[in-house]
Amino acid sequence: MTTANNLPGAPFFGYRQGQLCAEDVRLADLAAEHGTPLFVYSQAAILHALGAYQRGLAGRDALICYAMKANSSLSILKLLAQAGCGFDIVSVGELERALAVGAAPQKIVFSGVGKTRAEMRRALEAGIGCFNVESEAELAVLSDVAQAAGRVAPVSLRVNPNVDARTHPYISTGLKGNKFGIAHEQALAAYQRAAALPGLRVVGIDCHIGSQITEAAPYLEALERVLDLVTAIEAAGVPLEHLDFGGGLGIDYAGETPPDAQDLWRQLLARLDARGFGQRKLMIEPGRSLVGNAGVCLTEVLYLKPGEQKNFCIVDAAMNDLPRPALYQAYHAIVPLGEAPHGEARSWEVVGPVCESGDWIGHDRSLAVQQGDRLAVMSAGAYCMSMASNYNSRPRAAEVMVSGASARLVRQRESLAGLTTGEIV
Ligand code: LLP
Repeated sequence: MTTANNLPGAPFFGYRQGQLCAEDVRLADLAAEHGTPLFVYSQAAILHALGAYQRGLAGRDALICYAMKANSSLSILKLLAQAGCGFDIVSVGELERALAVGAAPQKIVFSGVGKTRAEMRRALEAGIGCFNVESEAELAVLSDVAQAAGRVAPVSLRVNPNVDARTHPYISTGLKGNKFGIAHEQALAAYQRAAALPGLRVVGIDCHIGSQITEAAPYLEALERVLDLVTAIEAAGVPLEHLDFGGGLGIDYAGETPPDAQDLWRQLLARLDARGFGQRKLMIEPGRSLVGNAGVCLTEVLYLKPGEQKNFCIVDAAMNDLPRPALYQAYHAIVPLGEAPHGEARSWEVVGPVCESGDWIGHDRSLAVQQGDRLAVMSAGAYCMSMASNYNSRPRAAEVMVSGASARLVRQRESLAGLTTGEIV
């Protein structure tokens, strides 16, 4: 059970004089000013998470490409770009977001199994650093598109090391049965093909085995398999400039204790050094671990509906704002904004207003709440706002960035007029 002592996101989120704060700002004040549902991010928490990677990779030729699918809000992108990050993108929409905050195009890598020709053209024109290609068919199309544009596309092949990341099946990506990457056994042939295609220049290799990984072992296993491949590919005459190990490091939702990024990289670098690859250019694509614990979603209790079998606590945030519970049966801690409980705690099903039984945010949560109270859904910085939808014609939430004692609105609540933009009657 989450208590004030083991709150995810601490020390950037915590109770001060009985009030839950983001850094030095009371969340209750932000909810009163901006309304709910409201996402609140801690700038210091994001930079702290990034710092662990930066320290872990210090002294190496390394580039951290933030996987912006985790949270592509411009203020977060800008913060990370200014801190030196590149970006891992998966669509032309994400490319435009990166360019909008002044990201250096050569620090952008383009992942994803289904890039369109138009997306390839735009990324080539922008001059991105690398296309992470996921199939032989994509290699041929990219070569074609590059030639037609009079350019040469820098490519890396995403290899599938067939390693079990031991995470939820929907977010495990490095196993043979996944749609991602090129099978380990076919990788060498695919590299030879890539090297022979006129519109391509082979620059690297990449892998990504899954998300919310809470142990070092799957990374270490994947690393050995990828290095075996690198050795074979280079022996076949295709040199690789960079090695990209993807993202995937987990965060604290319910007391998980994933390795610290710095510690994970100490272990990985020891193996890279031992095998003679320590001086290679290294790239990583962390998403969740940079922003997940740096955000919360504030919500108001609309109604309490105690029942014979279950007690329902109906809040104003829903599966369109926080889709992870409905999609992955994910756990997010839910805590009151004021520490002093209102009466006796009882077990609640915390649910949203969307017309689906799948619209739940927390099962069986012990809370002392009253109608009108506000709650914080913790660990909501990653894969919440970026996956939010307008289901039930609900406008998407507003977002606030906190730094020290100051807070600024970084995304307005979506307007009702905005909901019908582009529709033709
Ligand atoms: N690189 C590639 C190629 C990826 O596919 C992903 C995530 C990442 C990097 C970043 O992974 P991270 O460091 O965030 O684990 N919506 C799901 C997670 C989907 C992850 C998809 N790929 C969730 O809410 O748990």
